[in-house]
Amino acid sequence: TAPARDRLRIAIQKSGRLAEPARSLLTACGLSWRQSRDKLFCYGESLPVDLLLVRDDDIPGLIADGVCDFGIVGRNELDEQGAARRRIGLPDAYQALRGLNFGQCRLMLAVPDEWDWQGVQQLAGKRIATSYPAILADWLAERGVDAQVVELSGSVEIAPRLGTADLICDLVSSGATLAANQLKPVETLLESEAVLAGPVKTPDDARAGLMAMLLRRLDGVVNVQD
Ligand code: PRP
Ligand code: ZN
Ligand code: MG
Repeated sequence: TAPARDRLRIAIQKSGRLAEPARSLLTACGLSWRQSRDKLFCYGESLPVDLLLVRDDDIPGLIADGVCDFGIVGRNELDEQGAARRRIGLPDAYQALRGLNFGQCRLMLAVPDEWDWQGVQQLAGKRIATSYPAILADWLAERGVDAQVVELSGSVEIAPRLGTADLICDLVSSGATLAANQLKPVETLLESEAVLAGPVKTPDDARAGLMAMLLRRLDGVVNVQD
């Protein structure tokens, strides 16, 4: 188990869609930081709450390992890594504590425009490119569909044109990426948004009070935005 700490550590995305709104939200909760020179670690000034700026994919693991206490991350990333852990028999190590009302998107199956979509039975024997292999594999298994999952870490939308997959399973926000690649969305696997993620078990040191306070402030700020 991780050693006791008296400062709270929150992981947020360093750059990308969730980076700015995550920081603004925490600022609205009354937090402020002295930015470190390398900008990966921000030392909390108003409260003993520090920020770690990382890749969003690393946030669930940082919470699981007890390196960070909270994280702001897409539900898609949290669910994917949770599903991957369950597939290899690891226990749940983090949970979504609050929806944050930004970063809304959907994890969707998308097929080439010319396909005549008739339903999931059409997926049998097909290759599906995705960065969300665990969620997709569970979804296919629940429906008894035998398709091949092709894992790609990025540029998933180009796979059908390259011939490395027949269709894709990826995040859709505005739909512009799909349209630009002559793909159309046909099934929704997950409705996602940014969430505040935390550990399954609250640490029993000075951080517990800070976490409770931050949750209270967050609830005030997020509810006012509605
Ligand atoms: C996601 C997804 C698509 C794009 C969809 O990528 O992989 O590329 O957003 O958005 P749209 O419907 O508004 O076009 P994202 O930019 O989150 O990051 P990544 O692909 O680099 O992981
Ligand atoms: Zn990512
Ligand atoms: Mg993308």
